[in-house]
Amino acid sequence: MTQPEQRKLVDRFGRVHNNLRISVTDRCNIRCFYCMPAEDVQFLPKQQLLTFEEIERVARIGVTLGIDRLRLTGGEPLVRRDLPVLVRALSDIRGIVDIGLTTNGILLPALAQPLRDAGLRRLNISLDALDPEVFRRVTRRDGYEQVLEGIEAARRAGFSPIKLNAVSVRGLTEDQIEPFGRLARETDTVVRFIEFMPLDADSQWQRERVLYAAEILQRLERAFGPLRPVPAEGPATAAVTEDALPGLAADELLPQLPQSTTGKAPAEDYEFADGRGRIGLIASVSQPFCASCNRFRVTADGRLRNCLFSHEETDIRELLRSGAADSAIAQAMLDCIAAKGEGHEINTARFLQPQRPMYAIGG
Ligand code: 5AD
Ligand code: SF4
Repeated sequence: MTQPEQRKLVDRFGRVHNNLRISVTDRCNIRCFYCMPAEDVQFLPKQQLLTFEEIERVARIGVTLGIDRLRLTGGEPLVRRDLPVLVRALSDIRGIVDIGLTTNGILLPALAQPLRDAGLRRLNISLDALDPEVFRRVTRRDGYEQVLEGIEAARRAGFSPIKLNAVSVRGLTEDQIEPFGRLARETDTVVRFIEFMPLDADSQWQRERVLYAAEILQRLERAFGPLRPVPAEGPATAAVTEDALPGLAADELLPQLPQSTTGKAPAEDYEFADGRGRIGLIASVSQPFCASCNRFRVTADGRLRNCLFSHEETDIRELLRSGAADSAIAQAMLDCIAAKGEGHEINTARFLQPQRPMYAIGG
């Protein structure tokens, strides 16, 4: 039998997994339409959530298998009480080199500094619109002012640059692209535009509503002049070609980002050629980065998922609560990665949306 210290989370396609995303709650204080139902959400009862001790144990076992990066997600992670306590415990684990957090920013005014003090160094704040009306249409709740205050609190606490995530949706956020471009050029902010993925609770996703990264790039260049890719590390992403799209007609081929000068992946990060400002494009639908994926996830209720879009999960909460040895939990992680598919199939006729919407998986 292999020694535990030699075991790594490598899948059938040679992808090495060093990045674990941990959802700490499925609750949220807003209701983004691409993630949650508008009303009557059934949240997990508290005893079904992994405790901080259980999360810490999962992370420690992950480290023995090569995990060195963590990201905390939700729902909205800051609604979990005492989150800085968890961040401190996780950043004290030897072998963890990086902890990130993805938040909607609403609770940051009070929490940015305590999180920083607890060891958090990377923060992504989700903000899909700079116009408060559009913000409201996306989130179906109040909160715009708090998010802006949250961003300022994060800046004051020393998070730099500020990274914003903006999900882009056709018919809703086109007119936000330029204002975000201006913000990126005028302040220490990196805006990362994300293509709308089929992970919503109300099945509102339609291919026609995906605002493609290539179009966003075009709009930004029209407004502010050329953008050049910042060379990316790692293997190339697969371009979506006709073959990958048996369900689509040829004239529906997806617009692609120009290849970077290195001939590698279409770079995710771009900077304006005049040196003022940087943006990111996350082409999760049109140019999936599955080929270089290094992540897996644990949901708030203790299920391992090897992909956002997987249809299978592994229950490790049961193992954690029934006295299983670390080696059994490590084996469950290895098995989960061994079963990982090649990539999402959004662009094929085979695609089936996963049963859990985004808030119940973790972003
Ligand atoms: N498509 C794309 N991005 C999404 N997010 C949540 N749901 C979706 C979706 N359906 C993003 C959020 C946040 C992160 C957690 O995931 O905006 O930035
Ligand atoms: Fe909440 Fe994030 Fe989902 Fe929006 S995307 S509803 S902020 S969990």
